[in-house]
Amino acid sequence: MTRLIFLGPPGAGKGTQADNLSRNCDVPHISTGDILRAAVANATELGKKAQFYMDAGELVPDELILNLIRERLAEEDALAGWILDGFPRNVEQATFLDELLKEINQPFECVVNLEVPDEVIISRLVNRGKEEGRSDDTESTIRHRLEVYRERTEPLIDFYRSRQQLVSIDGNQPIEDVNEDLAKVVQV
Ligand code: AP5
Repeated sequence: MTRLIFLGPPGAGKGTQADNLSRNCDVPHISTGDILRAAVANATELGKKAQFYMDAGELVPDELILNLIRERLAEEDALAGWILDGFPRNVEQATFLDELLKEINQPFECVVNLEVPDEVIISRLVNRGKEEGRSDDTESTIRHRLEVYRERTEPLIDFYRSRQQLVSIDGNQPIEDVNEDLAKVVQV
């Protein structure tokens, strides 16, 4: 049963790889960023509260995210597996996820950590900003997202590595090569 967590800085390719793998494994790709962007687009209560943080490149407060994950993992399509992208994002979210997965008896396989240098990330996301107009893909906000990543999310690398649940992959190669490296470490 496929249950994976994708970790890595903004623009590392988490969404790209998670999307591809979810189609191959026929399990949902659950991206908290995508869920939040849809909420913003639909002007829901969640979206109205989240937009300020997202535009600033800050993490949305945990109280807006934790219940969302609990509800999403309880949906029918997630019972047979899932790929998480963008969650957990800090130690508090990781601890919450541990407790939730124990409660619903859904252990995960491993955490895939995509490694990409900052200058590559900035170039990828500035390009995406020009092509797709995502509001947080401006150079100054990308740099801030990277700072937030270092401070809040990067500690999860040691958190999962110390439990021998982390697999690191070089994300600075063509998408197909990252796919291949992923296939070597993940059972699909
Ligand atoms: P989120 O949507 O999670 O954004 P992110 O982590 O900044 O990730 P990205 O989507 O920018 O990058 P990615 O690693 O998925 O790369 P992608 O495949 O897209 O979060 C956005 C915001 O929502 C956060 O800032 C926060 O405010 C909020 N949020 C979300 N989750 C939260 C949580 N749990 N708690 C609190 N707040 C939360 O690729 C990027 C680009 O690179 C694309 O153009 C792609 O085509 C290209 N690319 C991908 N792979 C390659 C490759 N190998 N070679 C060349 N180009 C590539």
